[in-house]
Amino acid sequence: MTGGAWWRNAVFYEIYVRSFADSDGDGLGDLPGIRSRLPYLRDLGVDALWLTPFYPTPDADHGYDVADYVDVDPRFGTLADFDALVADAHALRLRLIVDVVPNHTSSEHAWFRNALADPSHPDRARYVFRPGRGDGPPNNWPSNFGGPAWTRDPRSGEWYLHLFAPEQPDLDWHNPQVRDDFEAILRFWLDRGADGFRIDVGHALYKDPELRDEEEPFPQTPFASDWRAAIDRPEVHDVYQDWRRLVDGYDGDRALVGEVVFSDPRRVAAYTRRDELHMAFNFALLFEPWEAERLRGTIERSLAASEEVGAPQTWVFENHDVPRLPTRYGGGEEGLRRARAAALLLLALPGPAFLYQGQELGLEEVELPPELRQDPVFHRTGGARPGRDGCRVPIPWTREAPAFGFTTGEPWLPQPAHWGNLSAEAQADDDAATLRLYRDALRLRPQLAGPLDWRDSPQGTLVFARGDVLCAVNVGGDPLALPRGDVLLTSEPLPQETLVAGTAAWIRA
Ligand code: NOJ
Repeated sequence: MTGGAWWRNAVFYEIYVRSFADSDGDGLGDLPGIRSRLPYLRDLGVDALWLTPFYPTPDADHGYDVADYVDVDPRFGTLADFDALVADAHALRLRLIVDVVPNHTSSEHAWFRNALADPSHPDRARYVFRPGRGDGPPNNWPSNFGGPAWTRDPRSGEWYLHLFAPEQPDLDWHNPQVRDDFEAILRFWLDRGADGFRIDVGHALYKDPELRDEEEPFPQTPFASDWRAAIDRPEVHDVYQDWRRLVDGYDGDRALVGEVVFSDPRRVAAYTRRDELHMAFNFALLFEPWEAERLRGTIERSLAASEEVGAPQTWVFENHDVPRLPTRYGGGEEGLRRARAAALLLLALPGPAFLYQGQELGLEEVELPPELRQDPVFHRTGGARPGRDGCRVPIPWTREAPAFGFTTGEPWLPQPAHWGNLSAEAQADDDAATLRLYRDALRLRPQLAGPLDWRDSPQGTLVFARGDVLCAVNVGGDPLALPRGDVLLTSEPLPQETLVAGTAAWIRA
C-alpha cells in the first residue's frame, strides 16, 4: 500500500453512502453494505473509494450536516464497521478516503446547541453570530440553497451565518479553536486508516471578516461561488499548508482532494500548489455541453492551469450534486451513447478521474414527484430548482424488483421499474453493457501514459495521443475514419471502421 504517488493517476469511485447498498433492511445504504460489495469495486478496477459523510446527522442535507465528526451514524453502522471496511478495502488494494465537512456543522452539533442555549458559552465563538442591520440580517448574502444566508436566533436577537441550509451553521475559521478542532478530526480518521479526505466547500472556510455586502444582482451561474467576493480568502491557504504537513506526516501516501468550485481553473489550481492540497476537483466538464470545441477548450484550459502549479489535473463527469450524464447529454439512446463515448474520453485524460456510483451502469436521472423530493435545494427554492434527488436514487444490483438488491426493505427513494435491466447483475455478462465498457477501459487505462498530445482532426471530433495510444472521439462531426492501428476499445460496435457522432475509440498506433 506504499510506494509512489498513487493518487496522481488514480480512478476514484464516489460512494453516496445512503444509496449504495443496504445491509439491514432500513432502506438506507450503510457501511456493512459497502463492505459486502467491495469485490464488485475491485472487479470494476477502480483504485480508491470516496465515501460521502456517514457521521451522525439529522439529515437536513443528507449527511453534509454533521452532528459529530468522530462517530458513525447508527443508521450507517458503527466505528467497528468502519474499521472492518478499511481493513477489507486495503486487503483488496482499494484505498479509501472520507469526507470532511469543515465549513459548517449541523445545528444539532453539541457546539451549536451550546451556542444557542447560552450566548456567553465559549462554543458561540465557533460560529458567526452578528447583530442585524435594522430589522434585517447583517448583510445581503444569499444562501447557496435559496433564501438569505442568515437566520435569527430568537433568544439573543442576533443572526447566525449559513452559506447552505439554516440547519448548517457556518464555523468561524478566524477562531483558532476551530482550526485545532479539525486537526484533531483529521487525525482521528487517519489513525483509523483513512487514506485521505475529500474536503467539502474547500474554498469558503474563511469569509470577509467585515461582512461587506455582495454586489447585486447576484448572477445565476452553475458556479455559485464565482461572484462571491466574501470567500476564497488568502487565510484558507495557510490551513491547507498545515493540513498537507499533517497528512504527509503519516505513512502510506495519504491524500487531500478539495472541493473548490470556481469556473476559472487557475483559481482552483491555486489550492493545489506544491505545499497545499494534493488535488482539487475540476468541475468544468460537469457544465459543458457535448460539443467538441467546448470540451477541447475546457480540457486545454484545465491542463494549462494545473501544469502551472505542478499538480495533476482531475476530471469529473458525475457526482451526487448534478444530473446524471446520459440525461445531461440529451437522454434516451443518444444520451447514453454520448455518455459511453465520454467514458472513454474521461478515462483517457491524464490525471485522477472520479466516477460516481451508477455512472458505470449508465443510469439516467430519475424524475421524482415533488412529494418524494427531499433535497433542501428543492424545498428552499419553492420547487424552482428541482434539487439533486434524481441522481441519488439507490443503485440496482440485481434484476428483481422490489429494490433490485439494494435493500430488503423500502428504498429511501423509489427506483424506476426498468432498472432491473440496468443492474450490475444484468450487465455483468453482457458484452455490450456499459458496465463492461467501464471495466475494459479501467483495465486498459494503465497503457495510456504520458502527457496529452492533440492531433489534428476534423470539426466536431477530438483526437489526442497518450504515449502510443490514441483516443478518438467523434462528438458531433461527420463519420470519422478510425485512425490506423490496433483497436483496443470502442464505445460501441463499429460497423465500418468509422466513428459516427457520439462514439469513441482507443487505438494503439
Ligand atoms: C457540497 C456537497 O457535495 C453537497 O452535497 C452539499 O450540499 C454542500 N457541499 C454543502 O455541504
